[in-house]
Amino acid sequence: MESTYNDFSKIQSQTISGTWDMVIKSCDKMIDNIKSKNERLSKLNSNENPNVIRILDIGSSHGRNSIMPINLIISNVLKQFPSQCFEVYHEDLPENNFSLLFKEISDNENSYIKLSNQIYFYAIGNSFYNQLVPSNSIDYVFSFSASHWDIYNDSFHYDKVSIGIIYKERSKEYKKYCIDNLYKNFSLRAKELKKGGIFLVTIINENECTNVENDSLYQLFCLFKTLWREIANENLISFNEVEKMAIPINVYKKDEVYDAIKLVETDHQLKLVTIEQNVQKFSDSHSLFLSDQEKSEILFSTMNAACESSLKNFIKGDQNTKDSLYKLFISKFLNHIKVSPLINIDYLFSYYSIIFEKIC
Ligand SMILES: C[S@@+](CC[C@H](N)C(=O)[O-])C[C@H]1O[C@@H](n2cnc3c(N)ncnc32)[C@H](O)[C@@H]1O
Repeated sequence: MESTYNDFSKIQSQTISGTWDMVIKSCDKMIDNIKSKNERLSKLNSNENPNVIRILDIGSSHGRNSIMPINLIISNVLKQFPSQCFEVYHEDLPENNFSLLFKEISDNENSYIKLSNQIYFYAIGNSFYNQLVPSNSIDYVFSFSASHWDIYNDSFHYDKVSIGIIYKERSKEYKKYCIDNLYKNFSLRAKELKKGGIFLVTIINENECTNVENDSLYQLFCLFKTLWREIANENLISFNEVEKMAIPINVYKKDEVYDAIKLVETDHQLKLVTIEQNVQKFSDSHSLFLSDQEKSEILFSTMNAACESSLKNFIKGDQNTKDSLYKLFISKFLNHIKVSPLINIDYLFSYYSIIFEKIC
């Protein structure tokens, strides 16, 4: 993620707001579980919990959006256990700019660290397809707008006209691969959680009622490919590099999500608490009175902040080459939409919000 993510992630922030009821519900569940565990173990005074509460934020990027749910979790716990100590772990890929994350958590006036002097925060630079912390150590793990990201796979993430795949048809192999991927993510979180711990995750999914033509992200991703091909036509990048460019997101189908849930429930002590499907529209977070050009710019800035580092991985050469080609791409995009902006921007994506609980 590049330095712009915190400033251009209103759409992702809206995903968290759209899941707010589930954050409240899952946090209450975690607190109830801690209370019952304490009562079972030592009949402790319910105003104290002797254990550190650990929160794990998966795919944190630069942290601004993570502050909202962590604030809610910590303040709700403090109402019950006023002297509670917390550890917060923010996780992202090693190339994430963790300096920006630490600055955000330290300097943001609404940061959760203002809630008590017993809150410690750390960062983990590792892929969430690995186990990130010791087994049975986490009370609450959440992953907003990150768990559909995959490691680029040539066989599945390539599309002729777009850099992002919005699949309507799946090969058998890709279907199995998608289920395995989700299952791996869920089972790792199952290991990391303490008994009674909570996992809240949002995952982009395919909305079978929506046509690809009405899909604003698909329009945008097709234009990305067209413009990179233009740069290849000018011999500034090879066609080979451009053809491979892809955003490695799996837009999961309903049956894949449910199959992965069933598998993890069978193999691990993770139990589904609630699953909800939501549709996210551009108009949920931005005024519809903007011009098509303004909307195109906002959508571009948001998706660009999320995809830039991924796309730069496909460009050969040193960092200067990557940065200057990317700058050219941005200026081409902005010039293009002055003349022909994206149209009918509204439908963005559909996503599942899922709460799991690790059972005793
Ligand atoms: C769209 S951002 C979401 C950021 C934040 N959670 C939010 O809600 O605004 C997705 C994040 O997932 C991270 N990500 C993608 N694949 C990952 C992986 N395998 N392991 C860890 N982080 C990953 C990206 O680097 C990026 O920071």
